[in-house]
Amino acid sequence: MNGFVESDALAKARSYEERMEAFIDRKDRPCFHLTPRVGWMNDPNGFAYYKGEYHLFYQYSPYTTTWAPMHWGHAVSKDLLAWRHLSCALAPDMPYDKLGGCFSGSAIELPDGHLLLMYTGAGENGRRKDGSPIEHQTQCAAVGDGEDFQKYEGNPIIDASSLPEGSSAENFRDPKIWREEDGTYRAVIASMGPDKSGQIVLYRSDDAFSWTFDRVVSRNSWRYGIMWECPDLFSLDGKDVLLVSPQDMLPEGHEFYSGNGTLCIVGHLDEETGELVEETLASIDHGTDFYATQTLLAPDGRRIMVAWMQNWDAIAGSIPPQRWFGQMATPRELSVRDGRLCQWPIRELEGLRRNRVDHRGVVVTRKPIELGSVRGRVVDLLLDIRPEDEENPYQEFVVWLAQNERFHSSVRYRPEHGTLEMSRIHAGCRRAYVHHRKCDVPGAPTELNLRIVLDNHSIEVFVNGGIQALTMTIPTELSAERITFSCRGRAMLDVEKYELVEPKDD
Ligand code: FRU
Repeated sequence: MNGFVESDALAKARSYEERMEAFIDRKDRPCFHLTPRVGWMNDPNGFAYYKGEYHLFYQYSPYTTTWAPMHWGHAVSKDLLAWRHLSCALAPDMPYDKLGGCFSGSAIELPDGHLLLMYTGAGENGRRKDGSPIEHQTQCAAVGDGEDFQKYEGNPIIDASSLPEGSSAENFRDPKIWREEDGTYRAVIASMGPDKSGQIVLYRSDDAFSWTFDRVVSRNSWRYGIMWECPDLFSLDGKDVLLVSPQDMLPEGHEFYSGNGTLCIVGHLDEETGELVEETLASIDHGTDFYATQTLLAPDGRRIMVAWMQNWDAIAGSIPPQRWFGQMATPRELSVRDGRLCQWPIRELEGLRRNRVDHRGVVVTRKPIELGSVRGRVVDLLLDIRPEDEENPYQEFVVWLAQNERFHSSVRYRPEHGTLEMSRIHAGCRRAYVHHRKCDVPGAPTELNLRIVLDNHSIEVFVNGGIQALTMTIPTELSAERITFSCRGRAMLDVEKYELVEPKDD
């Protein structure tokens, strides 16, 4: 890019990742889930369609496999499955982002054809009495050509002084920008409000650089965790949808669990107050490993969501030690059905399917059965489960995955309770963090459709057309590739199974 000046920190990161990536064997990465070029990855950032390709940036620390001051890693793809790593896009090199780094944010194409990155700078704002730095979060901009990005000389472009009185300057992050039809810009940003819990604030701008505070769109008021992170606000199927990632949640039935979770609020923006009137609230994904969602409106009109396929409380040893850590979940197409958010793997995934295998009307009973050619660790599996005899429903149906003599994971449906449970207790993890999760299946039907997407070290389950989703990473050795089925009672099973092949970047 004309006039682009690479800082020392950026030049160092770029030369390091180029050298070190050669030490990572392609087959030690997942088949189609994005992983960092080298080192650590957390949240997806700057998800955009720009000059004929999807761009996905991510929270990145090239030098370590643990969190450290944040850079922005960068990858591009034509189909959201075959990713090509580009050079590190942002490094912590300015006073306003040097302490914690370049935190999460988003991207948009400007009318002059440049790509704007809007991110949070985690800078230092003085010291405490004990000498420790006080973090200060502001919103910053960088402008580029899709490869190199120059930080804007007017940074920061938004600071906490514009927030409602009593809001925190230490917790003010993760701007998500979009353009309105009239060409003006909006951004939602996560903030800690005067009550010390999360609030989502809306800013407006004519040029994407000069911003004014507009209003508070949604307040947590200590209901769902404490601080909210990574907001996204969009309209979909006649509703307004707010996605956030709350920290420090408390459990509520099978809907929310302790720790960092995800929350989807479906409702409508009140015409007078501009606040989001809540109609339904639910977890976005009920598994263990799904956080920090971000969506994009694809050129064909699809609302596509990506997320970090990890959990902040379980970052030690969840997959075999290597030179990279963290992966993105399969991108998902979103819709709203009966007031609920529905998700389905992007249709491009079907292009990776090979060697279809069908088994119809298989009777499943207590003894686990294996079906011809139904095995593997990179698999798209579609199951239809129903009682063999309508009058006599089964009590429990279990799918055993990534299985050998020693290891397995399971997906277990109990129609009488209407619950679906996922477990990786025996998946080979040596750490004591959460290994199983449950969710309610709306209507507790006796007939259940499951789509299960496996990719080396992850399991993503989509229930009844995507009304629920559960995502888990598994550390299981790759030779554990059996898939079996068992049932308490008698069930009929239809199976459609495909191998998924490595996507080609052409
Ligand atoms: C969410 C998050 C964001 C922040 C980033 C820092 O996982 O905490 O709120 O911008 O990670 O890496």
